[in-house]
Amino acid sequence: MSAETSGSAASPPTQPPSAPSRRTFIATTSVAGGVIAAGGLIAGPSLLGAEQAAAAEASPSSRLTLAVNGRRHTVTVDNRTSLLDLLREHLGLTGSKKGCNAGACGACTVLVDGRRVNSCLTLAVRLESAEVTTVEGLAKGDELHPLQQAFIDQDAFQCGYCTPGQIMSAVGCAQEGHTGSKEEIREWMSGNICRCGCYVKIVRAVEQASGRK
Ligand code: FES
Ligand code: FES
Repeated sequence: MSAETSGSAASPPTQPPSAPSRRTFIATTSVAGGVIAAGGLIAGPSLLGAEQAAAAEASPSSRLTLAVNGRRHTVTVDNRTSLLDLLREHLGLTGSKKGCNAGACGACTVLVDGRRVNSCLTLAVRLESAEVTTVEGLAKGDELHPLQQAFIDQDAFQCGYCTPGQIMSAVGCAQEGHTGSKEEIREWMSGNICRCGCYVKIVRAVEQASGRK
């Protein structure tokens, strides 16, 4: 038996009478914490008046004017509204699709001032005076845009969910001059995912519309 073991067995605890035990300390702090928490709950509404609470809940909104497919719209939107939600929920243009809503699939691709963008990542409030083109704005009356026709001719879709984004991206790709070869098309269309795996036919459609097929 070691000296330390025998000493602890023979002697009473050496804690001074006034020092709280561990158990007392835990019990005391729990009660105090409860009182503080309850006080906070009771004090909450009085600190944050009804007016302040309402102001905190109301999200800021903005008014903007932009053109979509050549038609001007003036709208008031929550500042957090994406261009995709503005198109689909406010303007009823549901051609642009919401796939990932995170910039990863390209289903929401539209043109803003001639440049392709992921509309799910674009804040509507930043588009004052912008010119937006969606898939609904490509055809001229009954005459399809060459890329729309090419997608049909080449059977370049299966479920069709990615197709509006593919077509809009292909329009941008052609305008940027990136349709010189299959490899170039694949590279510059790589942000547009097709879960049905129609990539070979999509590339053929872009080639057809660019006059290479
Ligand atoms: Fe915008 Fe997927 S929905 S990139
Ligand atoms: Fe189905 Fe592309 S055709 S996801």
